[in-house]
Amino acid sequence: MSQELKTQAIRFITQPGQQVTGEITVPGDKSVSHRSIMFGSLAEGTTHIKGFLPGQDCLATMKAFKAMGVEIDGPDENQNVTVIGKGLHGLSQPKNQIDIGNSGTSIRLLSGILAGQTFSSSMAGDHSLNGRPMRRVIDPLKLMGANIDASDDGTPPVVCQGSTANQKLTAIDYVLPMASAQVKSCVILAGMYAEGVTSVTEPGITRDHTERMLTAYGYPVKVEETSIGKKISIEGGHKLTACDIHVPGDISSATFFMVAGLIAKEGQITVKNVGMNPTRIGAINILKQMNGDLTIINERMAGGEPVADIVVKASILSGIEIKESDVPLAIDEFPAIFIAAACAQGTTRLRNAEELRVKESDRIQAMADGLVALGIDCTVFEDGIDIVGGEITSGTVHSHDDHRIAMSFAIGSLRATGSIEILDCDNVATSFPNFVTLANHIGLNIKQA
Ligand code: S3P
Repeated sequence: MSQELKTQAIRFITQPGQQVTGEITVPGDKSVSHRSIMFGSLAEGTTHIKGFLPGQDCLATMKAFKAMGVEIDGPDENQNVTVIGKGLHGLSQPKNQIDIGNSGTSIRLLSGILAGQTFSSSMAGDHSLNGRPMRRVIDPLKLMGANIDASDDGTPPVVCQGSTANQKLTAIDYVLPMASAQVKSCVILAGMYAEGVTSVTEPGITRDHTERMLTAYGYPVKVEETSIGKKISIEGGHKLTACDIHVPGDISSATFFMVAGLIAKEGQITVKNVGMNPTRIGAINILKQMNGDLTIINERMAGGEPVADIVVKASILSGIEIKESDVPLAIDEFPAIFIAAACAQGTTRLRNAEELRVKESDRIQAMADGLVALGIDCTVFEDGIDIVGGEITSGTVHSHDDHRIAMSFAIGSLRATGSIEILDCDNVATSFPNFVTLANHIGLNIKQA
């Protein structure tokens, strides 16, 4: 990004808070919103989506499919979207390189879809995305016979030559080298275009929205437990039939408010309509183990996903050793959990979380740098961090253009002794466009400059 643009970037200036109160509803789930556009576009018939997340990442997915000839209306003011499906073989070649912005989910899942097309395509994104690893999707797609590549260092652009009618992808039986829902989903999506039965086995549990959506769209998928983890199998050549999608509130966005409610000196808030998919509830497990007073109420099903409201009360948190099994279930929530750890009594230890180093930023280092700048003692490890609870002081922190780093420090302001300046907060709009409004509504004091 140019220097001129940098100086114009959005900053958050926060003041300390005491109490939080009120009820909020967080916007739609990012993972489900992306997939609703992808599956809707590849289905036969019209998909109606309710509660779509109008964040920049999901809008980038929408723009990509529009560029491939799909008619998509919305989101309207109620976040309804209509997608007129083209069928699995109805996409057309985009005129230009697809600009996928900041969105890792878009580029990795689209790689699987584009690998199955007969046309050539290319995708790239912003500075952060263009530095992220793509070999994790290129490698299995090449094993399937796809003509797809990234640059020499394995980063975008991702360029796909497309296959000819008699040069179809071949099925593979793939064991994921890391717990990644994006890689799993990429291979499953390519599997719809492959000859034979493609299987993916995951070593640790990862979010299962792709498998759920395949079932909702009537595409046969087999899920079985094996000695090394869950195995998902899909045969090429079936079709997706349009259905209506109800997007639950994003538990990743809700986590910022769970942490805010817990670390506040007093008060209680209710976060409504939160998606409670069992593959996503690691943050709730961890915050409860830290003695967080979280009560799950109104548990219900909405659009094939479990949903609930969460009542959060100010709590005295304790440091814990985070269980390895909770790591993949809370993978996007660690920046916020680190703020809870900074406000807890004692030390919180995280290990087996090296994946945090290849997110929108290196989230272990970015959070450690910010916490240290705010007077919190922490020690960084290759795959984790130790955080000693203490007093958050005032200071300046860098978000490294990472939405979740920016929002985490904004929440931390509740317990700070003075003002915090958070730099480069533009990307908060990728996942949570109304974050500041909702945060100020429950009692935080965040100004955008
Ligand atoms: C996502 C999977 C996760 C997560 C990302 C969304 C998805 O990434 O961090 O925000 O929608 O599949 P990994 O697959 O890299 O763990």
